[in-house]
Amino acid sequence: IIESSELMTVNELGDERGLLTVIEEMKTIPFEIKRVFYIYGTKMGVRRGFHAHYKTRQALICVSGSCKVYLDNTHRKTDVLLDSPTKVLILEPNDWHEMYDFSEDAVLLVLSSHLYNAEDYIRDYDKFLEVYGS
Ligand code: TYD
Repeated sequence: IIESSELMTVNELGDERGLLTVIEEMKTIPFEIKRVFYIYGTKMGVRRGFHAHYKTRQALICVSGSCKVYLDNTHRKTDVLLDSPTKVLILEPNDWHEMYDFSEDAVLLVLSSHLYNAEDYIRDYDKFLEVYGS
């Protein structure tokens, strides 16, 4: 597991009551947030994602539990461990991503720069190489 440059650690605000982490668009997150979704209740052994995008940028935060993210931008393949609500992984459109090793309590929060559009997905790996490979 390598810590990639897209992985940031954000501040945790804590007091005697507990913890709080804040994320703001154009500050922590380098894009305007148009959509939020979260992946949870993932069955053991499941691997999901298997796509890149044309335009969409995303920020992944495992707000509970842990999971791993495999990234491939055609130049570099990395595995990133998201095991803290303070870790924010920024994905660029050309980051082919696969999420795996979800803990039972994992809640993966995704902040997205675009509304859902099936046409913005590249789900075929050969197509991905054709679009983004140099
Ligand atoms: P899918 O893209 O298969 O998830 P993953 O890439 O994490 O494996 O999404 C599962 C289903 O949810 C699929 O039918 C598309 C739908 N979906 C939406 O309708 N809107 C969304 O914003 C997302 C992320 C998925």
